Parts: sequence; structure tokens; C-alpha cells
Amino acid sequence: MNGHEAGPDAPREREFDFLRVDEFLRSLLPSCALGVALQSGLIDFLVQNGPAAAETLADRFAADAKGMRLLLDQLLANRVLTDDHGRFALSEDFLKALSYRDLMELKLEMSNLGVFDLLRFFPDLVFRPGEFARKSDFCGLFAYDRCFEKSEESVRLTRRWMRITTVLTKYEAQACLKYHDFGGYRRILDVGGNSGEFALRICRSHPRAEVTVFDLPLVCEIGAAHVQREPEAKRISFVKGNALGDPWPSDFDLVSFKSTLHDWPEEAAGRLMTSAAEALRPGGTLLVFERGPLETSGTPVAYAHIPFFLFQHSFRSPRFYTQRMQALGFRNIGVRILDLGTPFLLVTGVR
Ligand SMILES: C[S@@+](CC[C@H](N)C(=O)[O-])C[C@H]1O[C@@H](n2cnc3c(N)ncnc32)[C@H](O)[C@@H]1O
Repeated sequence: MNGHEAGPDAPREREFDFLRVDEFLRSLLPSCALGVALQSGLIDFLVQNGPAAAETLADRFAADAKGMRLLLDQLLANRVLTDDHGRFALSEDFLKALSYRDLMELKLEMSNLGVFDLLRFFPDLVFRPGEFARKSDFCGLFAYDRCFEKSEESVRLTRRWMRITTVLTKYEAQACLKYHDFGGYRRILDVGGNSGEFALRICRSHPRAEVTVFDLPLVCEIGAAHVQREPEAKRISFVKGNALGDPWPSDFDLVSFKSTLHDWPEEAAGRLMTSAAEALRPGGTLLVFERGPLETSGTPVAYAHIPFFLFQHSFRSPRFYTQRMQALGFRNIGVRILDLGTPFLLVTGVR
């Protein structure tokens, strides 16, 4: 299926190949078994050596025989393994998903962290979302207030959550690049552009593009190091600042917000969009690429989606963005909803 115009009856199904990792992260126990298999080296062993018996695996990994059986059972239930007369092999489907190992491991790590918050604070999420956000360890990872200083501790904390945003963006950017043609832009501003990963993906597919990342000081420093060895680094620059208080660079053909506006209450998000409009040349484009509300429609939330479920209160409907764009005088406003496991909104308008 292709990405589609927004509409209540529009069908949605998996489009991007990297989403196959979610098939192995549906529920807790099989996902945890996969995590153990990845971390212990069992998956690598099977990749390198081919099918093996349970006893061989128990010996090789110095595991309790019943424990190994338990692990193999869950991996079978999760279709990570096949069992051919007692010889366990990685399934074809799992091998395909393993080509996105960084994403698979990241989603597992995020969900393993997020599930603790759910177990402890679910009532807060339901009745007192603000309280939940304050208590949640997962939400607390994104400590933007630590990004104005450069202590050893703030660098460690910032790197930790930037790894999450960077790996997610590596994949999510593909959807944005597929459905929005960046070919006509030279000067691009990515607000909250983080490690420069989105900028890098744009520059890699558009040799004319030059992207400025506008983000908090420490984030920009870590970002500059992230892209510095890439051939596209010459076309990526970083502007350190607080987008809600400091002057913005201007004269851009495109200003983008990727997974950034949902962090802010409506008033602040609106102000950011106003500043973005002012940073555009006449005829320039504003692009918002943000997660939208989860559409669970009565089905259980997959283990892989727990981290996004925790942020559910922040994800807005496309109407918020289109109304702001209309109020700012944008024309040709378009909305597309893409299925990246959870819905992603691609909202654009021309100044
Ligand atoms: C959820 S992250 C998204 C990062 C990236 N765009 C992505 O899609 O992965 C939000 C980004 O906004 C940045 N940010 C937060 N507060 C900011 C501010 N006041 N001014 C500029 N950037 C800010 C953060 O440092 C972070 O990089």
C-alpha cells in the first residue's frame, strides 16, 4: 500500500520493509526471549554455524538445560526459530528482519524500559498524564534541560537519548523522503534536528541540498561529531540555540519539524510554527513530520509500540497543524498519513 491522503475509511497496512522487526516484538515474553538470544550471542551463533540441537546450544552458552529449552520454546513461538527434528535454525522471516538489527535492538531496549513505567504508573497515564510524564523513567530520558551545559554527566545522558532518536530517524526519514520531494530545495532548516541524522538522509539523496540543524547546544555538538566523517558533512551545519527564545537563522526554502512539535504544549508549538514561517523565503515550504495519535481500535498494543503509547497524550491530530498553517497564511496545505507501525503525519504548506 502507498501512503494515502487522510480520510476516515482509508486502508492502512505495512509498507516499509524495516517494519518487519515489529513482527518479532509483539508481546512481552517472546520479545524478552529475543532480547536474551540477541544479547547472549545465540542469534550470532546460529547465523554463523547454522542449525543446532538444544543440547549443543546449552553447552555452548553454559546454560541450564531447562532454561535453554524455555528460551528456545519462546523463540519458536515467536517464529524466530524453526525446529527441524530437534535442530533449531533461524527462520527465513527472522533473517530478513535481522538486516535491521539496530532498529530491532533499539525497539527492544525502548520497550523493555517503557514497560516498567506501565507496570508502575498505568493509572497515572490514564487519570493524570502530567503526573505520569513526571514519574516515567522513559519520558525522563529526554532531559533537554541538561543540553545547555557540557558536564561529563550531561554528555552521557544526552548521548543516551540521542541514540534513540538517531536510530529511529535513520528509518523514519525514508518514509518522509519517499513522500515528499526535496528536489526543489537548496537551503533547508531542520528545527530540533538532533544528531543531524535527518539532515544526513536528505543530503544523501539530494546532492544540491544544504541543511542547517537548529538545536540545543550540547545536542549540536554531539550531532556535529555524528555526521563529521560523512561525505555530506560539508552540507550540514549546526546552529546552537533555544528555538523558543533565541533568534532563528532565516532565508530557507524549507523548514522542517520532525518529531519535535509534539514535545511542546499547543501555545509553544504554535509559536515555533510562526517562527518557522518567518524563517522561510516567500514561496518556501513548511514541513511537519510528526507521529499522530495511535489507532489501536480495540486491538492490544504491540510490545514494540509501548514507548509510543507512553507519549500518546502528546501526539496531535493533523488538524492542529493544518489550522496553524492556515492561520499563518500558508497555501497548498496537504496531509498524508503514513503507517510506520504507528501513524505518522506528513503535513506541508507553502508560504
Ligand atoms: C523528540 S526529539 C526529535 C529529534 C529529531 N528531530 C528526531 O526526529 O529524532 C526533539 C528535539 O528537539 C530539540 N529541542 C528541545 N528543546 C529545544 C529548544 N528549546 N530549541 C531547539 N531544539 C530543542 C531536542 O534537543 C531534540 O533534538
